[in-house]
Amino acid sequence: MNNNQPIGIFDSGIGGTSIWSAIHDLLPNEKTIYLADSKNAPYGQKSKEEIVALSMKNTDLLLKMNCKLIVVACNTATTNAIRELREKYDVPFIGIEPAIKPAATHSKTQIIGILATQGTLNSELFNKTAEMYQDTKIIEQVGHGLVQLIENGDINSPEMIKLLYSYLTPMIEANIDYLVLGCSHYPYLIPQIKKILPEHIHIIDSGEAVAKQTQKILREKIGFSSTKKSEPIFYVNSNPRVLTEILENKYTVEEIDF
Ligand code: SIN
Repeated sequence: MNNNQPIGIFDSGIGGTSIWSAIHDLLPNEKTIYLADSKNAPYGQKSKEEIVALSMKNTDLLLKMNCKLIVVACNTATTNAIRELREKYDVPFIGIEPAIKPAATHSKTQIIGILATQGTLNSELFNKTAEMYQDTKIIEQVGHGLVQLIENGDINSPEMIKLLYSYLTPMIEANIDYLVLGCSHYPYLIPQIKKILPEHIHIIDSGEAVAKQTQKILREKIGFSSTKKSEPIFYVNSNPRVLTEILENKYTVEEIDF
């Protein structure tokens, strides 16, 4: 393993760029390769076996591209497949888990909300984490349809706003004071979510925590890149326009088959 190899990041689609962006901001000299498996999005409704197989397919490609560390920038893939990935491959993996801990620790009402995919909320890893906070009531809500609308570029559509109202209103009525975004696609909905939530409800996403964990693993196990700032590489297997737009046309996106 050599310090100057790239960091590989994958997601079921474009949402993991919220994680990529936090990593790129914290570690600008690190070369990054991002794989958006948009062709197979959403992962959230697939079986555990399918999610593990897709995660291994993405990992195989990133390892062929010589990555020194893999970031699973997808909550559904982390909660369903990270154990299997760690068992099969030698490379370090960083996952993205719903930020239940900071929400439960800081909540004053002891009631928090989590918006995530069915796959994440059903997973053993999520349920074990939730069990650790018995004193906190966790209102779970599946974000049916949200990932697909984001993948289609329909972030501001009336359908999106309607869905968000229907998912968030019961949480507001239940008196949550923290909302955990348990899917790496959802940070792109923060402006819309803020218009619905009262100001006192805090929104937590995991981008910064994943970036800090990546920095820690590089420091302790692999080493930082010794090269200067390098251009990130983005690969997508369907609909490159939406990924290009979410990156504000700042980077080249290449469509490849994987
Ligand atoms: C999905 O593909 O369904 C969402 C990805 C995630 O859970 O972060």
